[in-house]
Amino acid sequence: REDSLIEALLARMTLEEKLGQLTLYNGGMAETGPVVREGEPDAIRRGRVGAVMNFFGAEAVCAMQRQAVEESRLGIPLLFALDVIHGFRTIFPVPLAEAATFDPALVEQAARVAAGEASAVGLNWTFAPMVDIARDARWGRIVEGSGEDPYLGAVMAAARVRGFQGRDLRDPTTILATAKHFAAYGAAEAGRDYNTVDVSERTLREVYLPPFEAAVRAGALSIMSAFNEIGGVPATADRWLLTDVLRHEWGFEGLVVSDYTSVWELLFHGIAADSAEVGRKALEAGVDMDMVSGIYVRKLAEEVRAGRLSEAVVDEAVRRVLRVKYRLGLFEDPYRYCRDASREQVLLSPAHRRLAREVARKAIVLLKNEGELLPLADTLQRVAVIGALANDSASVLGPWAAAGRPEDAVTILEGIRAALPGATVRYAPGYAEVPSGSFQEMVAAALSPDTSGFAEAEAVARWAEVVILVLGEHRELSGEAASRASVELPGVQLALAWRLLALGRPVVVVLMNGRPLAIPELAASAPAIVEAWFLGTEMGHAVADVLLGKASPGGRLPVSFPRATGQEPLYYNHKPTGRPPRAEEKYTSKYVDVPWTPLYPFGYGLTYTTFAYDSLRLSRRRLGLDDTLEVVVSVTNTGRRRGEEVVQLYVRDEVASVTRPVKELKGFARVELAPGETKAVQFRLPVRALRFWGLEGGWVVEPGWFTLWVGPSSAEGLQARFEVVSP
Ligand code: IFM
Repeated sequence: REDSLIEALLARMTLEEKLGQLTLYNGGMAETGPVVREGEPDAIRRGRVGAVMNFFGAEAVCAMQRQAVEESRLGIPLLFALDVIHGFRTIFPVPLAEAATFDPALVEQAARVAAGEASAVGLNWTFAPMVDIARDARWGRIVEGSGEDPYLGAVMAAARVRGFQGRDLRDPTTILATAKHFAAYGAAEAGRDYNTVDVSERTLREVYLPPFEAAVRAGALSIMSAFNEIGGVPATADRWLLTDVLRHEWGFEGLVVSDYTSVWELLFHGIAADSAEVGRKALEAGVDMDMVSGIYVRKLAEEVRAGRLSEAVVDEAVRRVLRVKYRLGLFEDPYRYCRDASREQVLLSPAHRRLAREVARKAIVLLKNEGELLPLADTLQRVAVIGALANDSASVLGPWAAAGRPEDAVTILEGIRAALPGATVRYAPGYAEVPSGSFQEMVAAALSPDTSGFAEAEAVARWAEVVILVLGEHRELSGEAASRASVELPGVQLALAWRLLALGRPVVVVLMNGRPLAIPELAASAPAIVEAWFLGTEMGHAVADVLLGKASPGGRLPVSFPRATGQEPLYYNHKPTGRPPRAEEKYTSKYVDVPWTPLYPFGYGLTYTTFAYDSLRLSRRRLGLDDTLEVVVSVTNTGRRRGEEVVQLYVRDEVASVTRPVKELKGFARVELAPGETKAVQFRLPVRALRFWGLEGGWVVEPGWFTLWVGPSSAEGLQARFEVVSP
C-alpha cells in the first residue's frame, strides 16, 4: 500500500509540486543562519512546501496542516520539525553530559520524554540525535554529541533514535529522528565551526561513520547532510557519502535533508557557479530536502525542462519524502500529532522533571575529592556559593534548549538553598554576570576581565564553613558557532579561584561547561572538583543531591580533558606513532612544555566509594573469526558507601597490516554495588567487532594477538591477551 499510494500521488504531481515536497520552509521561530525565504505567498496552499521547521503549538500546527491537506491541490500533509536536542520543555542534560552517564537505557528514556513533549505541540520530526564524533575540545558543538569515542557514540546514537522514534513511528507520541551531521562535521580543522575537514577514508569509516550506521540500523529515517567539505567534496554534494555509503551499503530508506542553507552554501565552497547548479549537485548527490535555501523549488524546474537534470532524480527524492510521511502515519491521519491539544499538559510534568533530575545526577563526574571533602554534611550552617554561573538560569539549560525556559530551571544556587533549609547560604558572583543581549555582548561579558567582584567573593568565602565555587562557561561560549581558541577557564575565573583557594577554606569547584576544559591549576590545588556540565531544568537539585551525598556521582568522561589547549585534538584512541612518547627520551612524540597525557582521561570519574577489580577471565584464548569471546571480571565495592562503577572493556590489535589505535572501547556496563558487595561483570565481544578498514578497502579482521583491558577508565585496567586464528 505504501508504494501504490506513493506512485499514485507521484503520477498526479506537477514538477512544481514535486519540488515543493523537497522544500523545507522556516516557520520562523528560530534561525541559525541567513534566511533565504522561498518567497512565494501562499506557498503551502500552492503545494510549494513539503515541511515546516521552527513552528509549533498543537492548534497552530493543525491550522497550517489544514492549509496543506484541505486547501492544496493534492492534500499532501506537511512534516513539522524542530531541533529537539536534549528535551523540549523539560530540558535534560546536554548530550555530552548524557553520554557521561554511560547509561544508554536512561538516555533512551530521556529522548522518549522529549519526543512525547515535542509531539504534544504538533511536532513530528526532530533534527537529532547529533552523532558527530568530536576529538577537538575547541569545537563548540562537541557539547551536542557523545564525545570522542565511536563505540560510545554508536551506542548513544542508537539509544536516542529508539527513544525518539519508539517502537512504532505511527504512535503520535513519537517523532522522526535525524542523525546529523553527515559526515565528519566534528573534524573541522582547528576546531573552528563550519571549517574544512580532510580525513582519510579509513578514519572516516572507523571513527566518524559508526554512530551514523548505528542510527540507521536503529531505524532512523532521516539524515542531515553536513556543512563541511571532506577532502575537497562538500558533504551536501557528496554522492559517494549520501548515496553509495548511506543507501547502497547501509540500505537507508529514509530522507536526507540538507543543513540550514547548506545547499546554497555550496556556492561559497566554490563548486558551482550559480544556484541552479548547486541545487542540481545537491539533489543528484542524494540530498532530498532543501532546508530553507529555497533553491530546489525556485531553480530546479527550469533545470529539468532544459534537460540538465533528470526528472527521475526528482521523483526518487519525492518518493523518499512521501515514504517518510507515510511511515509517520500522516496519510492515514494528517492531524495525528496536533489533534489533541490537551496533550500539551505533559510538558514539564512532575514525572518528566523527576527523570530529568535522575539523568542529571547520573551525568555528574567527580574529578577530584581530596580527603573525602565530599559529600558535604547537611548540618552545615554557613555556605558560600560563588560564581555568576551558579545563578545563571539560562546557562543551566545549555545550548539548543528548544522550548526550555530559564524560569523553569533550577540554578545551582537555588538547588543548594533548597537542600539546606537550615543553613545560611550567601552568594557572590565573583566574575561578571551575563545579562541577555546580542551574542557579541554576551560573549564579551562571559570573557570579561572585570575583577571588581573579587573582594565581595573573598568576604563571603571567609565567612563560610565551605565554599562552593562554580566556574566554567556561559552557554554562549558553547554550541553552534561557539568554537574557542582557548579551552582554559574564561575571563578572570582562574584568578578568582586562586584568591579563594588562598583563604584556606574548603573549596568545592563545580564546573558548568559544554566541552573539556584545561584546568591543570585547579586539578593541582582545589581539594574537590565536580564536572556538572549543563544539566538542564533540574540542574540545581541534581548538583545539590550529589554534593550532599543524596546521590553518588558515577558519571564518566566521554572526552579526554587536556592540560593545555595546544594538546587538542586529544583523544585516547590515538595511533601509536613510530616514536611513542617517553619522558626520558628526547626524540619521541611529545611536548617540551606540557606532558603529552590528558589531565583526565576518557572514561575517568571517581565515586564516593572505592572499587577493586580482580579475577579477569576469558572464555578462551584462541578464537575463530566467527566466534565470540566472553569476558568476566569481579568488581568489589571496597568502600563504605553504595556506588556505581562504569566497568570498561578496551582492546588493542597488537600487529596488523595497517596501524591500529593504542586502545579502543568495545564494551561498558554501569553497575551499582553496596559496600562489600562483589559482582561478576560480563561482556560478550564478537570477533567481528575487532574489524578495521583494510589496506585494500573493505572491513577485515586479521588473525593475530590482541591485548584486552577491563577497568575503570581508558588509563587503567586488568590486562589479558587472546589470539584470533584463521580457520
Ligand atoms: O539542525 C540544525 C543544525 O544542527 C545546524 N544548523 C541549523 C539546523 C536547523 O536548526
